[in-house]
Amino acid sequence: MTTEKPLKNVSRCRWRSVVTVRDKRIQNMSTETLTRSDVFGQFRRELYGEKRSSYSNAHIFIILGASGDLAKKKIYPTLWWLFRDGLLPDDTYIVGFARSNLTVENIKETCLPYMKVTDEEREMLSTFISKISYLSGWYDDISSFKRLNKHLSSLPGGANANRLFYLALPPTVYHQVSTNIRNHCMDCNKGWNRLIFEKPFGRDLQSSQELSGHLSSLFKEDQIYRIDHYLGKEMVQNLMVLRFGNRIFGPIWNRNSVACVVLAFKEPFGTQGRGGYFDDFGIIRDIMQNHLLQMLCLVAMENPASTHPDDVRNEKVKVLKCVAPVTLSDVVLGQYVGDPEGEGHFKQGYLNDPTVPEGSCTPTFATAVLYVQNERWDGVPFILRCGKALNEQKAEVRLQFTDVPGDIFDGSCQRNELVVRVQPDEAIYLKMMTKRPGGHFSPEETELDLTYRSRYKDMKLPDAYERLLLDVFCGNQMHFVRSDELREAWRIFTPLLHQIEAEKINPVPYTFGSRGPSEADDLMKRVGFRYEGTYKWVQPHTA
Ligand code: NDP
Ligand code: BG6
Repeated sequence: MTTEKPLKNVSRCRWRSVVTVRDKRIQNMSTETLTRSDVFGQFRRELYGEKRSSYSNAHIFIILGASGDLAKKKIYPTLWWLFRDGLLPDDTYIVGFARSNLTVENIKETCLPYMKVTDEEREMLSTFISKISYLSGWYDDISSFKRLNKHLSSLPGGANANRLFYLALPPTVYHQVSTNIRNHCMDCNKGWNRLIFEKPFGRDLQSSQELSGHLSSLFKEDQIYRIDHYLGKEMVQNLMVLRFGNRIFGPIWNRNSVACVVLAFKEPFGTQGRGGYFDDFGIIRDIMQNHLLQMLCLVAMENPASTHPDDVRNEKVKVLKCVAPVTLSDVVLGQYVGDPEGEGHFKQGYLNDPTVPEGSCTPTFATAVLYVQNERWDGVPFILRCGKALNEQKAEVRLQFTDVPGDIFDGSCQRNELVVRVQPDEAIYLKMMTKRPGGHFSPEETELDLTYRSRYKDMKLPDAYERLLLDVFCGNQMHFVRSDELREAWRIFTPLLHQIEAEKINPVPYTFGSRGPSEADDLMKRVGFRYEGTYKWVQPHTA
């Protein structure tokens, strides 16, 4: 096993500029024929270096759980997109491992609908498929992993290859699989070994600590990549640039000017088909404890000493250490019920899902208020709000600023809000007051608007998984969760989760397609969020 050495610490901004170059060139396609690989070539050289001496080894990407949903919908398609764009290292091989008896042809058929392959890309796809192989085996069976290792070594350059193990598996088999990888699939190769873990990382502080203890007895921290795919999203990554690359936000980014911060995740569909998995975890473990809390860290943290992954993660951990465990009095839980007036699946409540246990109290919606008790944020509520089966799809960060002191406009001004919309339609907008145009002298609500679709026309932003898998190839851990971050995240939520489960707290019912329970709005109002309902947005092209 060689020592971990990142190939290059790449700024994600480079991806954006290369994509822009690509898009400009694609507009000029009639005079200049360029393949995507040509355009991404520059980026690739930056990633892996001109000489690529440290990168002469082959790479093997091993998907454990290759027959599953995640592998089919995300992992194989992402590897294909990276391959198609010339961003995977040369000599990358992909090995699937699962219990089912599958062929590569089966894998191709099931993944194809998610891969978005054009007719022109068919030939390239065949080359990609030729790099895939599959092995069936048992997760608790040593001989299966010995076979896997033999297969990995038999691939071209396999004995010296760098190995990336992706555990797209239920957490119940993490212990066995990680032990078997460590004991039977690592020491023989001369390249490096990295492991990628999907959430959930445990169910509470104790189980997560057990898992972390187990993994740290087998691997070094820099070999472990814990994915929170929200950290791969464009606007989540943009939070640091927005905050620390501008002079204007720093002085107002604190308790003197910010009344509250809202971190929101909304989905317009229920748990259909995933009720079994979901019921065991609930919305707090599924979304709040990870995706929303990670966004909170990026909003609240101090300026890191540099963009080195550990400098950034040190600051995130410091934020979490200043957050006390959430208490039930600062929480509203909800569970969706069918809308009798609605059509199709809108009629189906959570408890109507046949995969959900009868009478389940699992929340599908939650609003929780957290406080970061440090000099910058003391007293400012951070409102985390997430739910399924709501009125829209949306993920956003919203800073609501305090009222203007010494008002001279007879209370006709509304609070400013800075909104970073993560999805859909990435945008940053600042809601502000302006003089109503014309002969009036009264204030009017409007916005400064950076809508990506208009500002970066025709630009296709990479998917979160594309960025994150590439980061693993490059050895860049900035956008992955470190073990101490994870411990703090569980510390904040574990007492609440235990109380909800022990006391079987009944969630408030809300109708499928609504904004969630009104009790959540009451809680937000109580801690200081102000909603006037006066803001009207006019889409520029319809104006
Ligand atoms: P709104 O005034 O509609 O909503 C502001 C906040 O108030 C949201 O957090 C919302 O929560 C909450 N809220 C809504 N209804 C209530 C209620 N009845 N009681 C308590 N709280 C409530 O302003 P937005 O900033 O959301 O903008 C309005 C629309 O304009 C949005 O669809 C936005 O996407 C769009 N817009 C788009 C821009 C762009 O694309 N560039 C720029 C500016 C605006 P909740 O999310 O739960 O409803
Ligand atoms: C996952 C959750 O982590 O994120 C799902 O387990 C959720 O329940 C998904 O649907 C949302 O991801 P995205 O990228 O579609 O917002």
